[in-house]
Amino acid sequence: MFSQIEQLLKEVNSFYPKSKEELEAFRVKYLGKKGLLSSLFNGLKEAAPHDKKSAGLSINNLKNAVLNKINSHKNTFEQVIKKNSIDTSRPIRLNSFGSRHPISLIKNQIIDIFKKIGFGISEGPEIEDDWHNFSALNLPKEHPARDMQDTFFLQTNPDLLLRTHTSSVQVRHMENNPPPIRTISPGRVYRNEVISARAHCLFHQIEGLYIDERVSFADLKQTIMYFAKEMFGEETRIRLRPSFFPFTEPSAEVDIYWGLKNDSDYRITKGTGWLEILGCGMVDPNVLENCKINSKTHSGFAFGMGIERIAMLKYGVTDLRLFFENDVRFLKQFSAL
Ligand code: PHE
Repeated sequence: MFSQIEQLLKEVNSFYPKSKEELEAFRVKYLGKKGLLSSLFNGLKEAAPHDKKSAGLSINNLKNAVLNKINSHKNTFEQVIKKNSIDTSRPIRLNSFGSRHPISLIKNQIIDIFKKIGFGISEGPEIEDDWHNFSALNLPKEHPARDMQDTFFLQTNPDLLLRTHTSSVQVRHMENNPPPIRTISPGRVYRNEVISARAHCLFHQIEGLYIDERVSFADLKQTIMYFAKEMFGEETRIRLRPSFFPFTEPSAEVDIYWGLKNDSDYRITKGTGWLEILGCGMVDPNVLENCKINSKTHSGFAFGMGIERIAMLKYGVTDLRLFFENDVRFLKQFSAL
């Protein structure tokens, strides 16, 4: 009897079922009503009295081995069964994809518009020195016009600051490239402004620069007109108002005609129907000379616009702060664009 139990224990331990059916046959073979274990327990009655106890223990031992085997394999087969029983007629769950930020969308659109007429892209550092952000642009130290752009200076080095416009990139570009120059400079800029629905301490700009021989104000106006029509539609009208920037002379601000169709048009255009979209002008000869370009033989124009402002107009967004909060409910609305 003992050698039979030992033999069965070996069999049980080396048993590895390949299917649920095999496991079931194994169960019946050992644990079934007429299975091996019940006949072994029955056989106990006939065992010699001094063998009874240890024979009983061995049979129990065998029974436990059988139960363990069944339990440990039951789960594997259940998982396999689940895997194979995928319901292919069920609707799939769509993964949600990310989307481009509206500021990037508008930035890319503006870049594409200028690329079509031969402008390249230039980029520069966000931490700038005084020369590139101010002095080279005809804004010497202590010049009152510096107040137009509230500046974050670096505490560790008063010559360094967070750039207040991407005109600094144009200075770098002029220093390193001889004319003709046709470049636009997109990027993040910083100003120490109180955060509100219309202003933020950081925002994005695209500035453009065109320098060649005999570039005129008419070229500037045509370029801006082309941009406005591409961006806001063929029917768009623009107007130029005289303005002042230290780095351009003459300078202008450009408005597009928005119309006065409803209350909100009255509010955002302050009742005029016109909306400002950018600043521009003919590059001041001093700026050209600062950047080693001969102002006798060359002239040029520059313009600059806030990307958030263009995005607000294009998408009808009324609070600038939404662009910086990264609320997916806001961002999701631009996923199809
Ligand atoms: N740099 C100006 C600003 O940030 C914009 C500008 C650029 C105006 C070029 C004129 C010409 O306000």
